[in-house]
Amino acid sequence: MARIDATRDEADLVRYFTANAAAFGVPFRPGELTAKRPVVDPSRYLMAAVDGETAGVAGSFGFGLTLPGGAEVPVAGVSDVGVLPTHRRRGVLGALMDRLVDDAAARGEQALVLGASEAVIYGRFGFGVAAHALWGGVDTGRAALRPDAPASAGRVRLVDRHDAAPALAVAYGAAAPTRPGSLSRTAAWWDLVLGSAGIFVGGHEDHLVVVHEGADGAPDGYAIYRMEEHWGSAGPAHRLHVWELVAAETAVELDLWRFLLGHDLVAEVHGMLPPDGVLLDALADTRAAQLLAPRDQLWLRPLDLPGLLGGRSYAVDGSLVLDVVDPRRPEVAGAWDLTVGDGGGSAARTDRPADVRLPVAELGSLLLGGGSAGRLRRAGRLEEATPGAADTLDRLLRWDPLPFCTTRF
Ligand SMILES: CC(C)(COP(=O)(O)OP(=O)(O)OC[C@H]1O[C@@H](n2cnc3c(N)ncnc32)[C@H](O)[C@@H]1OP(=O)(O)O)[C@@H](O)C(=O)NCCC(=O)NCCS
Repeated sequence: MARIDATRDEADLVRYFTANAAAFGVPFRPGELTAKRPVVDPSRYLMAAVDGETAGVAGSFGFGLTLPGGAEVPVAGVSDVGVLPTHRRRGVLGALMDRLVDDAAARGEQALVLGASEAVIYGRFGFGVAAHALWGGVDTGRAALRPDAPASAGRVRLVDRHDAAPALAVAYGAAAPTRPGSLSRTAAWWDLVLGSAGIFVGGHEDHLVVVHEGADGAPDGYAIYRMEEHWGSAGPAHRLHVWELVAAETAVELDLWRFLLGHDLVAEVHGMLPPDGVLLDALADTRAAQLLAPRDQLWLRPLDLPGLLGGRSYAVDGSLVLDVVDPRRPEVAGAWDLTVGDGGGSAARTDRPADVRLPVAELGSLLLGGGSAGRLRRAGRLEEATPGAADTLDRLLRWDPLPFCTTRF
């Protein structure tokens, strides 16, 4: 069986990142480790050894996760997961995940979250899809917004990305509580997002930053983007890639889209949207947006049900007994009385018979207010003991806006 140890020093971290690169079939790039090092806590970066040799790795970051209603709870953001191609399908990832979950529980983290390379990997470890994203492009030739689309009294200002962190942190801090699924950011994380590393989690030497300022001059939104140039025989047809677009207010969000969609030389603006992104309803020609079907974005593995269900807000009152199936965590498994009143809820142990029986992964997909218990029931993934209980669960847990996670990790 694999032996799991946390990394202890820089040499361990080089071994870790070398193994992870090999798992993805690419060479170790020291620049990636250098860029990430300020956000990496070695005690959270685990290595699995088989017969004394590194076989696989899995790490996590400590984040605050926004719940419906704006409360933030501590979670582990699982990242940099890989098992060497020579050691696959013999339980190395399973051993790493068990330890990551144990460590998160010991730290008092209420859930684990991650973005998955493949959709078939993490359900068995109790992760469900808590947030979806739309990827796609908008044809700028047809991208005018409706005349009645809200506009703000503020302005868009181009800023040097090296000086942008304070303004972006203010705008992000105002927006994150309004969107379940948002993750908190430290100053070191901002350095990564606004850096030059050109790696998955953030930063690119070609990134440009615009800040939206309200009438009072305070930052209330921003976009990070980069240009991919195409000089065709018919003229310029650049593609503008939006890395992040963040705003708490709809009018600010639409002003940022107006700026990006109106950029000279650009034929298409490409990026990632929440499935309920307001842009889709604000376009005069809705077919200007060629968006892909919603794709799994943030996966969530619940650990602390009283914390998660008691910390979030609810749109309607009601109560229900959930029977949670979780073979790995006895503190999660079993019957829970979910009672909601006056917008707040609580989850307590109960002996009452269950209305709904569901695996912990399916509960993870519903907790942030996205997903659908009714659809999960129709797909055979959730059982109703009381007729209509899945619909009741949907009414209780659904939240507007839908969860979405701007942070890549
Ligand atoms: C995904 C990965 C980490 C799995 O590691 P592993 O050690 O082979 O996984 P385990 O042996 O612990 O697998 C546990 C279970 O998940 C299944 N599983 C794991 N990865 C799977 C995959 N990619 N596709 C289908 N099933 C998978 C295994 O078959 C096993 O099932 P079982 O319990 O029914 O036997 C490894 O394949 C890998 O490094 N892939 C490339 C990099 C990558 O995608 N990393 C994940 C980033 S999010």
